[in-house]
Amino acid sequence: MQRGVHDVLPTATHDEASRESFVVALKSHVATEVTGGNRLFFDTVAAPEFKRRHGYAPRNRSDVRRAMNPVPYYQMSSSLKRTTQELMWDYVGSSVERQLPALLDRAKQVTASPKGSLHLDADLPLPRYLTAVDIHCMPGNYTTDLVDGDVFAGALYDRSVYLFAMGGLGAYNDDVGRTLITALKEKFPRFHPRRILDLGCAVGHSTLPYCDAFPGSEVHAVELGAPMLRYAHARAEALGKHVHFSQQNAERTNYPDGHFDLIVSHILFHETSSKAVPRILKECHRLLAPGGITLHCEGPPWNRMSPYEASILDWDTHYNAEPYIGQVHDEDPKHLMTAAGFSPSQYLDLSVPSVTMSRYFPQLFSEGNNGIDGTWWYFGASK
Ligand SMILES: C[S@@+](CC[C@H](N)C(=O)[O-])C[C@H]1O[C@@H](n2cnc3c(N)ncnc32)[C@H](O)[C@@H]1O
Repeated sequence: MQRGVHDVLPTATHDEASRESFVVALKSHVATEVTGGNRLFFDTVAAPEFKRRHGYAPRNRSDVRRAMNPVPYYQMSSSLKRTTQELMWDYVGSSVERQLPALLDRAKQVTASPKGSLHLDADLPLPRYLTAVDIHCMPGNYTTDLVDGDVFAGALYDRSVYLFAMGGLGAYNDDVGRTLITALKEKFPRFHPRRILDLGCAVGHSTLPYCDAFPGSEVHAVELGAPMLRYAHARAEALGKHVHFSQQNAERTNYPDGHFDLIVSHILFHETSSKAVPRILKECHRLLAPGGITLHCEGPPWNRMSPYEASILDWDTHYNAEPYIGQVHDEDPKHLMTAAGFSPSQYLDLSVPSVTMSRYFPQLFSEGNNGIDGTWWYFGASK
């Protein structure tokens, strides 16, 4: 799929574009041809050996990992996967750094007469789960400012997500938001929220589709990383979308009780801690107006997939600096929602075919490859 452009998107020289194409080609090869081969080694070598040693077949994702760790083919495919991830950040990072002064200027220009807004809070304490590790090996994580008024992290993320997903999240990387909106409109055709809040918005990939889907609604978004938010604001203005971005912790925001009719998040929870998740959901309960809806996109709980499939997604917990995925997907989502104050009868649980992904890369979405099947899973509740 052709990449969607805007005025603050970093560009690529011929050589940079060529390096990026190489990473995408390697990623695609590793994801389809190489990683897929692990299944054969699991069935024929690792699982029988595990059973011989322990007296039972691998029962969960951790057993599968312990069974596979000694297999040289698995080690080779893991190493290749990790290498492509690091190459991606290196290539895109050096390209963004080269043009950072120009990007800062463009961000200033497009936000000179904003229709949306940006509120930053330099004193906001950052939770340890976000400062302890560079999540998914992204250098500097979401929060590092390289210069005053920096947008580096946002620009790096925007360009890299497109490569990481190999275009499968759509021209504007907005598939998760667009898929949620499609499901919401199908299930609640009369629902038209006045105020919408997106939690952990990053650069607003999933936020912007709400502006078009619900014309006239006020769209707000919170995020912890200042350079992400500056870029998100500039990107939204460049694309003509009016969003109110604010640097806040989703665990405790400064909005009044019952302020929002729709509260969403898209792949946020697996990058927070198991202590933060219940707090964020309680905050959703406080912020949601009666009659409102909250929905959150995450990978499904482990107990909804086979141990082998779970181990593919859990790979990132151990080898791609995503240390919280394992615990967060152990949680029971319905229990989390009721503990946050929502009625069990109002619980929502939706598996929705992605509006773009599976159409572009059908070969990637089968068990044995990436462990994902071209659907997004959303949990939440109405109030
Ligand atoms: C994977 S990104 C989210 C992607 C984004 N929602 C999208 O769909 O494009 C996770 C983001 O959540 C932010 N984040 C993590 N914990 C947060 C918290 N407690 N409050 C607000 N933002 C948070 C991170 O800084 C990061 O930008």
